[in-house]
Amino acid sequence: MMEVCIRINNLTVEFGKYTVLKNINLSINDQEFLAIIGPNGGGKTTLIKAILGLIEPKEGNVLIFGKKPTELTFKDIGYVPQIKTLDRNFPAKVYELVATGLTGNWNFRYTKEMRREVREVLAFCGMEHLEHRPINKLSGGELQRVFLARSIIRRPRVLLLDEPATGIDTVAETDFSLLLETLQYQNQTTIVMVTHDWEYAFHHSTSVLLLNKSVVAFGSPKEVFSEENIQKTFGHFGHDHKMEFIIKKNV
Ligand SMILES: Nc1ncnc2c1ncn2[C@@H]1O[C@H](COP(=O)(O)OP(=O)(O)O)[C@@H](O)[C@H]1O
Ligand SMILES: [Mg+2]
Repeated sequence: MMEVCIRINNLTVEFGKYTVLKNINLSINDQEFLAIIGPNGGGKTTLIKAILGLIEPKEGNVLIFGKKPTELTFKDIGYVPQIKTLDRNFPAKVYELVATGLTGNWNFRYTKEMRREVREVLAFCGMEHLEHRPINKLSGGELQRVFLARSIIRRPRVLLLDEPATGIDTVAETDFSLLLETLQYQNQTTIVMVTHDWEYAFHHSTSVLLLNKSVVAFGSPKEVFSEENIQKTFGHFGHDHKMEFIIKKNV
């Protein structure tokens, strides 16, 4: 049997009086690809932060390979944050940002060994040529790859991504989704990705979580993407014609 990678037990998160996540229970096996989908404000980022141990739950807990998130290091778990929350004007170069994934801080001497590791991971992400580019001179898609490079440089067993825009960046040499596939199947990485791209989730994930404060549905993409579940998650306003397209295409 596959080893359980992430187990979420009875997780409830509150900010003040406001309940953001209510009684979440689920587990994901090693080497799975979990897609998390839900409306804005539905608690997706909060769930990712709870998995990372950045948020203290009101009740319940998260275990990653049986350990508490606070016992993990960036060798165990990689994180690509939501791009809109990043300060684009931060005066760093690509290699410096990626190297912080090795050292955990900005105060480092760029050794030959680090240079080799940074180049290797940038090459994997199709970004080798931008090693010395300031990060405020990158496109959104390029910046995303740099953050991916930073998050995987220690080859973590688990990778969390908060809304990477998988579709926007076809110009880059290496397709972002291909990178994720390589990580999942060749490097045996468990991937958890918050996304609005339902079609991508349908085709690439092994499990889908529809989240709106609590679990609306959790299971295989075929089970989860029913019209009823989509209605429950997004209600009338969220109805997306793309979804009909996916369902029709695959029956
Ligand atoms: N640190 C915080 N303090 C208070 N409220 C927060 C905090 N972080 C998020 N929230 C609120 O929690 C809810 C869920 O937010 P979030 O997890 O970011 O949703 P999503 O990522 O699904 O859009 C939102 O209503 C948001 O305003
Ligand atoms: Mg979010």
